[in-house]
Amino acid sequence: MTNIRAAITGVGGYVPDYILTNQELETMVDTSDEWITSRTGIKERRILKGEGRGVSVLGIEAVKDLIAKTKIDPKEIDLVIFATVTADMTFPATANLVATAVGATNAFSFDMSAACSGFIFALTTGASYIQSGMYKKVVVIGGDKMSAIMDYTDRTTCIIFGDGAGCVLLEPATEDVGVIDYILKSDGSGESYLHMKAGGSRYPASLETINARHHFVYQEGAAVFKFAVTHMAEVSAQLAERNHLKADDIAWLVPHQANKRIIDATAQRVGITEDKVMMNIERYGNTTGGTIPLLLWDYEKKLKKGDNLIISAFGGGFTWGAVYVKWAYNS
Ligand code: UT7
Repeated sequence: MTNIRAAITGVGGYVPDYILTNQELETMVDTSDEWITSRTGIKERRILKGEGRGVSVLGIEAVKDLIAKTKIDPKEIDLVIFATVTADMTFPATANLVATAVGATNAFSFDMSAACSGFIFALTTGASYIQSGMYKKVVVIGGDKMSAIMDYTDRTTCIIFGDGAGCVLLEPATEDVGVIDYILKSDGSGESYLHMKAGGSRYPASLETINARHHFVYQEGAAVFKFAVTHMAEVSAQLAERNHLKADDIAWLVPHQANKRIIDATAQRVGITEDKVMMNIERYGNTTGGTIPLLLWDYEKKLKKGDNLIISAFGGGFTWGAVYVKWAYNS
């Protein structure tokens, strides 16, 4: 390990304008605002409307926001990583499309697939490229157009997910700020509980897969809930402990926004009070790869240089993990 740290030096974000409220969902499936709010904490989510508009639209707007705020020249960007499970196409990578659209013409780019943990997997990957000394400006995007793979007749999933993307800029720092430590995990036996069955090489699109509704997210909610609560809480506590961070030392818990009850359980396990837990699930729902960068985007102005952040996520795969970041700037 070198003494170069990878610092987050800017944040960008974008959510589409259309707001899908619990009230509108009540007209689509057999559900209620009361059930959704009490079981998940979600009030509304954003939906990207329009023919032929993929997740790249969200990523491009988020990176444009980042470029405008940080005033970097896009030609200086070395690498763009896009964490998503709703890529515009199976190939080419959506990161390629975003990089070109924002003028990052000197960058190489690729997508990462780790579902709801995608952003933390990509963040730590990007950080490694910076820490190696190889690259100086890495843009890490997390985002999904979940509405593209949502069955709006299935009340157990369609009430949860929304569309949105956020991104961060990583740059080298020699001060003690940036990505300090992380624990990342995956377990393929989680496949049966949370997946999208068709559209890949195992079950390519066919009339049968379409009729069987296999191009939509399938989730066994209660089972995933149990895994998420246990693993997200455990890994967050483990990371804090091994970095000698007591609850008072942690300025913010930055949890993946899947369910307010999972977030509360994670906060409780780490001993963090609600005022130090970033939360925007009520407005955006679960945007999969987008939740964590969208939290940083929403809370950026409250963050101070030196703040200790514990970022944690759990998602399909299963995949999960936690990242300890020391914030690098005052807004
Ligand atoms: O981000 C990736 C990882 N994903 C997660 O972390 C999601 C984890 N899971 C969850 O957040 C929760 O399990 C859900 C929000 C998906 C579901 O909440 P739950 O408290 O686990 O409910 P449940 O699945 O155990 O269902 C309880 C009842 C069932 O009815 P019965 O069998 O008790 O009569 C469901 O049919 O609630 C019913 N139900 C609904 N009722 C009204 C399920 N969805 C709805 C709905 N509206 N939308």
